[in-house]
Amino acid sequence: MEKAIREEAKALKILVVDDEENMLHMLSAILRREGYSVTTALSGQKGLEAMETEPFDFVLADIRMPGMDGMALLDEIQKRGHDTTVIMMSAYGSVDIALEAVKRGAYDYISKPFKSGEVALALKKALERERLRRENIRLRRTVEKEFGLEGMIARSPGLRGVVQAIRRVADLRTTVLIQGESGTGKELVARAIHQNGVRKDRPFVAVNCGAIPENLLESELFGHTKGAFTDARSARKGLFEEAHGGTLLLDEVGELPLNLQVKLLRVLQEGEIRLVGGVKTTPIDVRVVASTIRDLALEVKEGRFREDLFFRLNVFPIQVPPLRERPDDIPPLVEHFVDKCGRQAGKDVVGVEPMAMERLLRYPWPGNVRELENVIERAIIMADSERIREEDLLIERRRSIRVPLSMALGEELSVKRVGRMVEADLIRRALDRTDGNRTRAARLLEISHPSLLAKMKQYGIQ
Ligand SMILES: Nc1ncnc2c1ncn2[C@@H]1O[C@H](COP(=O)(O)OP(=O)(O)OP(=O)(O)O)[C@@H](O)[C@H]1O
Ligand SMILES: [Mg+2]
Repeated sequence: MEKAIREEAKALKILVVDDEENMLHMLSAILRREGYSVTTALSGQKGLEAMETEPFDFVLADIRMPGMDGMALLDEIQKRGHDTTVIMMSAYGSVDIALEAVKRGAYDYISKPFKSGEVALALKKALERERLRRENIRLRRTVEKEFGLEGMIARSPGLRGVVQAIRRVADLRTTVLIQGESGTGKELVARAIHQNGVRKDRPFVAVNCGAIPENLLESELFGHTKGAFTDARSARKGLFEEAHGGTLLLDEVGELPLNLQVKLLRVLQEGEIRLVGGVKTTPIDVRVVASTIRDLALEVKEGRFREDLFFRLNVFPIQVPPLRERPDDIPPLVEHFVDKCGRQAGKDVVGVEPMAMERLLRYPWPGNVRELENVIERAIIMADSERIREEDLLIERRRSIRVPLSMALGEELSVKRVGRMVEADLIRRALDRTDGNRTRAARLLEISHPSLLAKMKQYGIQ
């Protein structure tokens, strides 16, 4: 550790600013002995000039100096946006000012007179902080990599493409059509579009077009006047108006009845709505995002969805890939849900056993991310150790997809467990190659037929 700091210190440049020449000599000697590269300046102004020509990791500045004092120098350094750690030196009687300097952004102060050890120590502390700060920046970068956008995990190329699309379209008013299987994260994508755009402080309103009875949907969307129908005892705003200035998510837009498709198209084209039972039209400013689990192009072909509305919605399509096509996202998603559900359940579960992870990676996830979330939530409730085990997972063993063995191995090092994983993998391959013919598979594997059957049972391979 000591050595590491010394070595790192060699590369570090420090600027010492003091109006007393003796002080500069003494500090230079101490700091050079510690391995720093030292530059000195006899005034705040000279210090600033030095900083303009080369960057410094640290500035060690006296507080009391004629002309530009240490405080003014600190302010100026910050104003100019220099990325440097400032340590103040205060003479007897100026500790208050030194504290004030720390409040204004100096890292620390040392009081004069000081022993050489104190300067070295203050710098070492500052160095440590620098290291942490850099580490933090690095960590934040990896977090951003995995969380493409806030709360949205995207490690796989497929989902990173989705994140890019969201970023590109968020600030525009363009209509977005999000398509994907159930539970892939379509609503999350819609919210991210809203959250990352200029409308984020305005309302986000979601309506599930498949969940509202057909006869109510129109007034739900566009509002109604008093007496527009039997139950309309008073006028009511529709969701389009609620979302004014913001974003309206038309969830399950594929379920929209044909007559409402016509009305929606008119609203989108004209940018105004008419209340049910009313005559007057009101202009609205709403960004529409639609989502569906259906293949809308196919729905159009089969006459269940209007082609003109499809084109109007499909200005910017986003396809969210199913989870089975992006196994890279599974480990970070699992970690995310273990964290979230563990906290909710008040349990100290820290992760999953490698064998359990292998199962999670091989399962084809027909219910996508939502199913994964539910499986982890249940597993947390079942778990009685700090890691989720295979038996805590309530997923079918039978159906399974191929993932690269290296991915399934993860951090696992146990010869016994890796051996079992490799064995199971080889059996799957042999069965693939022989189209499920067990006799031929056993021959390829160079094991007996009964032994193959026993192992298939053990590993849950069909
Ligand atoms: N990439 C992701 N990162 C983190 N959480 C995710 C991700 N994708 C989905 N989820 C979570 O999975 C759950 C299901 O997502 P969401 O409701 O957005 O899916 P959906 O496609 O709208 O599903 P449905 O078609 O059933 O309405 C939510 O709890 C969501 O937060
Ligand atoms: Mg949804």
